[in-house]
Amino acid sequence: MATTERKVDGSDRTRSARLVSVLTLAGRSMRREAEALWHEWSALLRGNTAASELPGALQLALDDAAVAERERRREAETGFLARSPWISRITYRLACRSLDAWFGGRPVARFWLLETVARMPYFSYLTVLHLYETLNWLHVAELRRLHFAQEWNELHHLLIMSALGGDARWVDRFLAYHLSLVYYWMLVVVYMVSPATSYNFSELLEKHAHDTYAEFVEQNAARLRMLPAPEVAVQYYREGELYAFAPIAQGQTAPARRPPVESLYDVFVNVRDDEAEHIKTMEACQRDDFVTSHTEMPTTYVPRRETSSDSPTTPQGDVVHLTDAPYRIRVEEDRQRWKHWIDETGRYASARIDEGQQRHEHHHGASHGEHPDKQRTAANLPDYEDGLGL
Ligand SMILES: [Fe+2]
Ligand SMILES: [Fe+2]
Repeated sequence: MATTERKVDGSDRTRSARLVSVLTLAGRSMRREAEALWHEWSALLRGNTAASELPGALQLALDDAAVAERERRREAETGFLARSPWISRITYRLACRSLDAWFGGRPVARFWLLETVARMPYFSYLTVLHLYETLNWLHVAELRRLHFAQEWNELHHLLIMSALGGDARWVDRFLAYHLSLVYYWMLVVVYMVSPATSYNFSELLEKHAHDTYAEFVEQNAARLRMLPAPEVAVQYYREGELYAFAPIAQGQTAPARRPPVESLYDVFVNVRDDEAEHIKTMEACQRDDFVTSHTEMPTTYVPRRETSSDSPTTPQGDVVHLTDAPYRIRVEEDRQRWKHWIDETGRYASARIDEGQQRHEHHHGASHGEHPDKQRTAANLPDYEDGLGL
């Protein structure tokens, strides 16, 4: 029977597993996949082709021609594909036609592969952004948070498609994983050379995902309404951190919406709407003003030149962008500013000690003499005393 045959298909993963060495992880995965492959082949040899098929009850369909028509209408309105770089256009068309050919009549498996690959841009962006931040070339914390939020959202799409059995076939998994590896490294290079080109290509794919889900929802509406939502989808859309472009771009983490998630219809509508949010994000990421509002030049602290008033204050300083003043701290003038800053720090510290002394005297009476804290701390600040005239 198909349901029992599906047991050893690699999708029945354990919910918690120890993080162990790469060799153990790779070995375990290869063994699991080899068993799944052996199981599929032996079932095929026995003439049981249902072993690697989805449970028939879903009976869901996707008309590739109707998806292509949606894309054609969108293109007629926006001309977006025509404006994309030629390399993106060719790769995109090739990818869409290959998906149609490979997954004809198997929409859920197609979605599972799409969602596996859909996470790769965000993995690539995060990799490259980490590099920039590590080397202090650019501060990108907010951009990383944005892309991580998208990746988290795509992860849940993937979990939903897995729950629906989209990864039932060994060959689909093999294809998705290896395609993802190649795509990931390609995007690392493209993103380094031209972030805009990379975002542009991702926008193409997000639009394709949106059109595909939109068509799927419309075509299967009645059937989807009769099917239950998988548990992972219910949990995610009721309690999880959902993705919505506008609030996350403004630095908020609270979920922006709690859409219904009663049936499988709701689930696919939600996934489709998530893809619309990804499109908005990719559009924004191709705008200079948006990206610059989410990135910062590396900074250094350079103290102000003006002498502050006699009253002790917190040391004041300006944050200076290194491009405006590259490594200014190395020139003599800035050395003087640093000295001034240190003097200010000493003045600030002494004032705090005096305050403590006064409080102490007020508490115990002045007859006990100098507070030991003052002696100890002041002893640590001998260099400041000249400069401050103490
Ligand atoms: Fe997705
Ligand atoms: Fe997406």
